[in-house]
Amino acid sequence: MCGIIGYTGRKNAVPILLDGLKALEYRGYDSSGISVFQDGRITTVKSKGRIEENEKKVNNEYPGLYSTCGTGHTRWATHGEPSDINSHPHTTENVSLVHNGIIENYAEIRSELCNKGYTFISETDTEAACLLIDSLYRESHDHLTAIKTALRRIKGSYAFGIMFGDNPGKIYAVKKDSPLICAVSEHGAFIASDITAVLKHTREIYIMNDGETAELSADSVTFCDAEGKHISKSPEITELSMEQAEKSGFAHFMLKEIHEQPQAIKRTVASLILNDITSYTAPGLTADRIKNCRHIHIAACGTAMHAGLVGKYFIEKNARIGVNVEIASEFRYKNPVIDKDDIFIAISQSGETADTLAALRLAKESGLFTIAVVNVKGSAIAREADGVIYTQAGPEIAVASTKAYTVQCCTLFMLSLLLGYHRGLMTKDVINERCRLLTDTAPQKINDVLKDSDKILSISKKIAEHENIFFIGRCIDSSLACEASLKLKEISYIHSEAYMAGELKHGTISLIKEGTPVIAIITENTLSEKTISNIKETASRGADITVICDERIILPKDVCSNIIYVPHIDSGLTFLTATVAFQLLAYHTANERGCDIDKPRNLAKSVTVE
Ligand code: AGP
Repeated sequence: MCGIIGYTGRKNAVPILLDGLKALEYRGYDSSGISVFQDGRITTVKSKGRIEENEKKVNNEYPGLYSTCGTGHTRWATHGEPSDINSHPHTTENVSLVHNGIIENYAEIRSELCNKGYTFISETDTEAACLLIDSLYRESHDHLTAIKTALRRIKGSYAFGIMFGDNPGKIYAVKKDSPLICAVSEHGAFIASDITAVLKHTREIYIMNDGETAELSADSVTFCDAEGKHISKSPEITELSMEQAEKSGFAHFMLKEIHEQPQAIKRTVASLILNDITSYTAPGLTADRIKNCRHIHIAACGTAMHAGLVGKYFIEKNARIGVNVEIASEFRYKNPVIDKDDIFIAISQSGETADTLAALRLAKESGLFTIAVVNVKGSAIAREADGVIYTQAGPEIAVASTKAYTVQCCTLFMLSLLLGYHRGLMTKDVINERCRLLTDTAPQKINDVLKDSDKILSISKKIAEHENIFFIGRCIDSSLACEASLKLKEISYIHSEAYMAGELKHGTISLIKEGTPVIAIITENTLSEKTISNIKETASRGADITVICDERIILPKDVCSNIIYVPHIDSGLTFLTATVAFQLLAYHTANERGCDIDKPRNLAKSVTVE
């Protein structure tokens, strides 16, 4: 949700900021802007639309704009429509500010400032923070005092990058519940919403904690804690490479990330098993805790929640522990029934999703042992959980999650084996065999689906012509149907619904008419006949059926118009090849419709607001 970049150093900040914003654009892309020091004052250039729009404005209206210090922002609108005025940075004579998050008491602050004679020009919550700091600076004439006093007043979540008109070359950064890093390169210092924005310049990163303030100048970054005491922080050297953050010849990040899945699965499983699967554990997830656990609560959002559904299937099957999968934004407000011995699992690619973070905090307050399954190292959810299991997907840039989902599912599958082992339901031999399937067989079979995607491409051309589609499946396949439906919706804008195959006839089948596309997923061998009956029920009412099907399942000839056979993997793991098939189907369908695949409308990659 919104991307922030800031630079102060010895090079021209303008191209560095615009370039950094392009790397952050996946976080929000309805408007953008930059502020730089020029001729002793702050110049702000901002506009509605993609970064390119603002870049054009900079080049046309401010040719030769040069400065060695500035901040930039790419927005996902919360308060106020995408417009030039509502874009960040918000700038007064004294202050320029970029913000990621939501200021909950902005209306109150706004009315106080109006009473003091301030005039607001935007509809944003952010302008309230900017003007508040401006007014406090007029009173204190001290930059840090103004910021600290404002933070005591502001409620909500924020990452702020702040510059003062009378302090050229200096950027202040503070955060609470929204991500922010600092970084130092040979030619200057940075703030950014995430590492990918600075990778071209440096790998030396400082992850900021809530309450800390950073003060950046061309040669240094200094930090102080919430009380204002100086603290020394050690940099981390990130393992991420530029290649991971680039398209590397693929038309879209989504396609690249779909193709990266075999390696991502191998890396994830390898990092978990070390020498022996039974040594795979999150810190604190002891054998006693596993034996005593009666219930597991999984909370997550969107695709991560769908991975949770797959995890539920495997944990209940392999460890015989009941699992509730909750949408994180519901979990925190539903007064969940929990027992002190229950285990809580938060799943999140970004590790920053506000709803998932809030659910995790609630679980911790309730005394539960918490585990995070997270892809981004050092993210808030990873830091706050009692134990963290990192997935090894590498950076996921496309808004539509693909590789993060498959590695989340694999991680939960592995967790189910561990839980089963400690509950006496799995032997080491069985577990080792399952791990071999994941590290050797699954990547090969996924590669087979990737190599043979022409059939999927041709089916997608037909799907692309429709506006309403149904996905159906039973058991694990109904969880896959949920994810397949979300994937198609979010990037192709085709309305689709996912149904448990047996449920359709209890109402929804009334929507099926001549030509309605129904996509059935069948990887669950034992239930194939039941699903085929449900397919027939819809076919009899005119549905046009496509089946994504385990190659070992024989489908009756008259049942469907299109079949995508996917390679079989033992032990219920065929869901992985079926997943890659429906991801490709969504991708090609969206491409066919000319959609902006990596940046679908209204969305942002990391949802750091409630
Ligand atoms: C996936 O394609 C989505 N764009 C979205 O549902 C995402 O999975 C969700 O917002 C959760 O994000 P997280 O994994 O970073 O917590």
